[in-house]
Amino acid sequence: MSEYIVIAVAWPYASGPRHLGHVAGFGVPADIFARYQRMKGNRVLMISGTDEHGTPVTLAADKEGISPKQLVDRYNEVIGNDLYQLGLSYDLFTRTTTRNHYAVTQDLFKTLYERGYIIVQTTLGAFSASTGQALPDRYIEGTCPICGYSEARGDQCDNCGSQLDPTDLINPRSKVDGQPPVFRDSEHYFLDLPAFAAQLQAWLVQQEHWRPNVRSFSLNILEDLKARAITRDLEWGVPIPLPEYADRNDKKIYVWFDAVIGYLSASIEWAHNQGTPDAWREWWQNPQARHVYFMGKDNIVFHSIIWPSMLLGYGNGGTFGGGQGEALHLPTNIVSSEFLTMEGKKFSSSRGIVIYVRDFLSRYDPDPLRYFLTIAGPENQDTDFTWAEFVRRNNEELVATWGNLVNRTLTNVYRNFGSVPQPGPLSDTDQGVLGEITQGFTTVGDLIDAARFQAGIKETMRLASLVNNYLSEQEPWRVIKTDRERAATILYVALRCVDHLKLLFTPFLPFTSQQLHAMLGYRGFIAGPLEFREYTESDGSTHRALTGAYATWEGRWEPTDLPVGQALLPPAPLFKKLDESVVAEELARLEQA
Ligand code: MF3
Ligand code: ZN
Repeated sequence: MSEYIVIAVAWPYASGPRHLGHVAGFGVPADIFARYQRMKGNRVLMISGTDEHGTPVTLAADKEGISPKQLVDRYNEVIGNDLYQLGLSYDLFTRTTTRNHYAVTQDLFKTLYERGYIIVQTTLGAFSASTGQALPDRYIEGTCPICGYSEARGDQCDNCGSQLDPTDLINPRSKVDGQPPVFRDSEHYFLDLPAFAAQLQAWLVQQEHWRPNVRSFSLNILEDLKARAITRDLEWGVPIPLPEYADRNDKKIYVWFDAVIGYLSASIEWAHNQGTPDAWREWWQNPQARHVYFMGKDNIVFHSIIWPSMLLGYGNGGTFGGGQGEALHLPTNIVSSEFLTMEGKKFSSSRGIVIYVRDFLSRYDPDPLRYFLTIAGPENQDTDFTWAEFVRRNNEELVATWGNLVNRTLTNVYRNFGSVPQPGPLSDTDQGVLGEITQGFTTVGDLIDAARFQAGIKETMRLASLVNNYLSEQEPWRVIKTDRERAATILYVALRCVDHLKLLFTPFLPFTSQQLHAMLGYRGFIAGPLEFREYTESDGSTHRALTGAYATWEGRWEPTDLPVGQALLPPAPLFKKLDESVVAEELARLEQA
């Protein structure tokens, strides 16, 4: 029976291009999971978009001297292209500035407010002495009261890592004009998290399948749960949907409140775009569905405490919930990754230098990057990307194991037979190796399903090595001189293994798996192209979103019957060996940055 699976991927801020750390943390893992689940025949809904509100956006816009709207238009396009080039197969990658997203966000706000889960409290806010304009935490700098660092921010000190309030800073000053801010009372709306503490507790203790750090971190937070402000003194954001704010432009909904709602609003948009406006309910109001969230570790609390509280408070209510059927689904799993640094000691930790996805992909192919980020990425601990290690893994692992297996198998078949050869009887060894590879559909599949991607790709590589050993022992290129039928059998077995491995590698390495699929003489897509589509909303505004015709992709997570006689295309190498000089070249580029 096919399962309904929501794959909810963290929304990148539209404040700049994406670097390798971003896509390692949420993009590539989520895509591996999505591609596998689709191949299994499950009903996948993978959604996300650019996160276009909040101070990360307004600060970047101020710095460039353009409006927030201009900035997010630019980076929505840049980020969309980054993700497209990496082959991240979102059912919908949209934006948080759509009319639909505003409507869904306001519906949640209003519903929670009417039910008493949103309360008013007064806080001390910072304002510019000269213009009276509100100064968000990140706009204020000063001396850290804990370590004495002179450039601590209003929300945290980057030197000692302490969480701060602007009022904690010694000699606070505005980043805009360098003047000390004035502090005065400001009314804000707060989400009453303590109202959900008991429900959250009961729910969290049951989540024994989560990575242990995520679950214990979340349970810990419950011990000291406080109401949390969900509005800010900012002009850029989703308007507060209450009558007293109809004519006011000085307060907006806090970016995190609206961003997590994006998972729901994007699902609703997707259903609308498909012409089946209620279809999102098959995932969101279906207790049997699985909702799996992917993010970096700094995002956990928003997904394990705040968003679940919002969902519990909303239930099946509001305009969109409609007051009927099941309450909206809570997260089934929260898959968070650790951090990726880039040439850590030399560049990223001391100078904050990063490697952008678009620069990387202008010189190298996407699959080797996906390979590296999966096998050596931050799935379980902080890791460092280095060019030396990238080149080594590309050459010694990808090219030498999987690339070499494909190359020697296809070249030998193509040269001697031109098509899939008719085998003679299979020996025990032949059946043994075929059996081992076939077993991979279970072992690798279970690892991916459990979000253990690193173990999954290692197991797939181990299987590829087994077939390499089989070929080296059987030596079909020597046997063919004396026994053409036996050589045909060996090569047939190797081809079948390669054909199975092609599928096992597809979630990890979709581009080269598709190339191999074609070289093996198949038509159609096991992993086809993604598409950008332009959507128009009821007010006439348009936006571009990333999507794809995934239902037409033919790859299935099961052994194939490679037809005897199927003509192969001329084989070409799947992966390029990289020259050692790449390392020095790339390091020089970073030096210049
Ligand atoms: N934009 C946030 C970040 O980059 C992530 C938002 S994820 C969502 O850290 F849950 F809010 F959507
Ligand atoms: Zn400090």
